[in-house]
Amino acid sequence: MDRPFGLLAELTYRCPLACAYCSNPLELAAYDDELSTADWQRVFTEAAEMGVLQCHLSGGEPLLRRDLVDLVRTAAELGMYTNLVTSAIGFSRPRAEALRAAGLDHVQVSVQADEPATSDRIAGIPSFERKLKAAAVVKDLGWPLTVNVVLHRQNIDRIAEIVALVEELDADRVELANTQYYGWALRNRAALLPSRDQLARAEEVVRDARARLGGRMEIVHVLPDYYSEYPKPCMGGWASRQLTVAPNGDALPCPAAQTLPLPRASVREDSLATIWDESPMFTAFRGTGWMQDPCRTCDRRELDFGGCRCQAFQLTGDATRTDPVCHLSPDHGLVTEAVEKANAGSRPVDELLVARPHRG
Ligand code: SF4
Ligand code: FES
Repeated sequence: MDRPFGLLAELTYRCPLACAYCSNPLELAAYDDELSTADWQRVFTEAAEMGVLQCHLSGGEPLLRRDLVDLVRTAAELGMYTNLVTSAIGFSRPRAEALRAAGLDHVQVSVQADEPATSDRIAGIPSFERKLKAAAVVKDLGWPLTVNVVLHRQNIDRIAEIVALVEELDADRVELANTQYYGWALRNRAALLPSRDQLARAEEVVRDARARLGGRMEIVHVLPDYYSEYPKPCMGGWASRQLTVAPNGDALPCPAAQTLPLPRASVREDSLATIWDESPMFTAFRGTGWMQDPCRTCDRRELDFGGCRCQAFQLTGDATRTDPVCHLSPDHGLVTEAVEKANAGSRPVDELLVARPHRG
């Protein structure tokens, strides 16, 4: 069996922002009882013993955890590469200096757009200026800076200006990642899914930026899988390289897996190694034995693993079905219908937002 390489530690789902594509669960009350500092330190120790090399400290907004510096110190002392994934709200210079001293290796800051009005509208609160200041502190303290921009119908036409902003921030890496449609984003899909023309224009901008910025900045461009012929090999295969621990201690093969009808696995009850090896949550879709046709007999089953289990479940109600993104899936019409609507002309996108996450 493969061993996990990366741990996504979702320290809290509390967050000052309210982005319409938020990856937090729809029901947050179940996560109010957060793991203690000692619980997290034990989880990190067990992860390091299993061979985990990368520890991503995420949320919600991980800076809302008062013990963040202690948690970073523990992960760093265990020899893991530590990455803070933050909205940057609360990233003051003194806090940043304490995190630096504790051994934090890398910071990823999310930015919603290239200018304050759009950015603050998408984030749900005034936050743009604070993000720019935080990015400057990251560079000033000598960290590598990744800027993450979630792309969607409402900001993708500004991608050239977004790249210019990221250049100005002197980022080492930018993730221009189209929204994935789970949870809040699935609810708000009509307001978020770009049209084919928008995507084509964005691709041209990315191509030019890569040619221009080549050795200076790594540009990662994630396309919306709704426009692909084949699905993405989600998480590199179910429970094969990554694991997630939610704020309440639930262990998950991917951040969206709490929606699946599988028995819970919790680090409050079992060790990470036992959960990884034996829990149904982790074994249910490992390998290819669970597959139905067309995946079961398809040449690509070891390449894309039948796509995303969470997407299959959210769109069809059955997590063992082929990801409907695949053009061979009998449910592919569910995806083409959404794509056709996204291309059917202009509707005021703000009116299409049906829900936003609760504030922390
Ligand atoms: Fe991948 Fe299944 Fe589609 Fe084949 S049928 S390409 S394995 S999702
Ligand atoms: Fe859960 Fe793809 S997001 S398997």
